[in-house]
Amino acid sequence: MSNPSDSNDSAPMSNASDSNDSTRMSNPSHASPSNGGTAVCPGSYDPVTLGHLDIISRAAHVFDNLVVGVVNHHIRKKTVFTAEERTAFIEAEVAELGNVQVKAFDTLLVDFARENGARTIVKGLRAISDFEYEFEMNQLNRKMAPDIESMYLMSAPEFSFLSSSGVKEVATFGGDLTGLVPPHVAERLKEALRR
Ligand code: PNS
Repeated sequence: MSNPSDSNDSAPMSNASDSNDSTRMSNPSHASPSNGGTAVCPGSYDPVTLGHLDIISRAAHVFDNLVVGVVNHHIRKKTVFTAEERTAFIEAEVAELGNVQVKAFDTLLVDFARENGARTIVKGLRAISDFEYEFEMNQLNRKMAPDIESMYLMSAPEFSFLSSSGVKEVATFGGDLTGLVPPHVAERLKEALRR
């Protein structure tokens, strides 16, 4: 999967040898050599969409290591695909990103983050409608683990309408899934919903 953020590499930045101390807080070139350490990017991913994959690849560009956490618990949602299937779909798509691992988890998210040495939870935000739920999760996670920071990437405009549940609805009625999920996932979804 190509990394869309690569194009930012050519963005103008002030010279790293700049001796002006006032730039040190705002210019990442003066920050620690670490690129953000490890982050977890959690979700149900039932199934993974091109919007999820966009967030994953952008987050992988920001952090040294990214662990995609696939929820393996039916507390909120009954899933079409097993955690193993959902994990495999993502693994196939991120194979080219050397700093991304995909793991299923059935514990509290903050415990999963700690087990993986992550100090950041990174999530995608599509629209205002996502905000209320994410705000609640943010406060819960912060209460349990104030040392773990949650960060949010805004979805790219072309994916701001895209959700796994919308994709499943389109698939149920035989709609075209091109541009919504990877082709292999589209095939598997059509099969699964025919059952
Ligand atoms: O909306 P999603 O994709 O189902 O999100 C799942 C998740 C785990 C990211 C979200 O529910 C969350 O942030 N939960 C925090 C509470 C928690 O740890 N739940 C246990 C999940 S196994």
